[in-house]
Amino acid sequence: MSEMVTCENLVKIYKTKETEVVALQGLDLTIEQGELMAIIGNSGSGKSTLLNMIGGLDRPSAGTLLVDGKDLLKFSEKDYVTYKRDTVGFVWQNNARNLIPYMTAMENVQIPMVLTSAKKRADRAKELLELVGLSHRRNSHLNQMSGGEQQRVAIAISLANSPKLVLADEPTGAVDTRTADAVLDLLRDVNRQLGVTIMIVTHDMSLSRKVDRIVAIRDGRTSSEFLRKSSYVDEMQHLDTYAAEAGEDSHVELAVMDATGRLQIPREYLQALGVKGKARLRVEMQDGKVVVYNPGEGDVEKMSADTVQP
Ligand SMILES: Nc1ncnc2c1ncn2[C@@H]1O[C@H](COP(=O)(O)OP(=O)(O)O)[C@@H](O)[C@H]1O
Ligand SMILES: [Mg+2]
Repeated sequence: MSEMVTCENLVKIYKTKETEVVALQGLDLTIEQGELMAIIGNSGSGKSTLLNMIGGLDRPSAGTLLVDGKDLLKFSEKDYVTYKRDTVGFVWQNNARNLIPYMTAMENVQIPMVLTSAKKRADRAKELLELVGLSHRRNSHLNQMSGGEQQRVAIAISLANSPKLVLADEPTGAVDTRTADAVLDLLRDVNRQLGVTIMIVTHDMSLSRKVDRIVAIRDGRTSSEFLRKSSYVDEMQHLDTYAAEAGEDSHVELAVMDATGRLQIPREYLQALGVKGKARLRVEMQDGKVVVYNPGEGDVEKMSADTVQP
């Protein structure tokens, strides 16, 4: 498999007259072609910033950002226009950003297809509305549709120009849990059927259980990853209540190491070690595993005494 997205040491600084906000502080992330993955993080952790960089809506300040083999830091304005039209599709939380309320579903889905003939546009729109299960709502106006239906139309729109990558920013933020589940199931179907890479941003861990991989970001950096444990969750996927109960247990957590070997240890573990703020920890190899522990003060004194021995 080859890589769809590569971020290395990605930095984004928002400068205003008075302040500078470092929204991404050297973020590392790789997304494989065909993956269905989620980015999770608290509000303000830099999720939307990351999505906007990858979607070509804003320029990174520094670092490396490759999408589908293209180097976005070298893009001209014209490159960005082509890229946004042909390579990526967007689904937003806020429907007002996706859809035009007084137009029909058919009309909405055709909007992004600016370079296609009218006949092909209509055929493609029909095909996409069928894919998202809305053939019967083809000629309904958006303002007559439920929130869930509107999100389905939004997904159809994102696919209009056959993008390689679909970016969804809190796509379930404005709908109830059941509808959110259906929207995620649809994104999963689209991923499996079309093979399109999908990146979903959410602050809700429970929603991310339907994806294969979750990357957690904290303060503009990737902190840990959760990988789907095994296929048993897949097998149980059709039994929705089971899958819901499996919740976070369906994934294993992996800490992410950067290129220089720095590793972020999950906060709960540090708490359990009784470590706050900066600390010096013992790191040892034991049976092929790296063990990290709090040496305690007595041990540290002994260690420094040992090291001064000639
Ligand atoms: N256009 C902007 N100008 C200045 N600061 C911004 C801008 N957009 C986002 N930020 C700041 O960058 C940080 C990350 O924001 P954001 O990417 O929106 O986080 P999230 O989507 O995870 O909630 C926040 O501190 C936010 O206030
Ligand atoms: Mg956001």
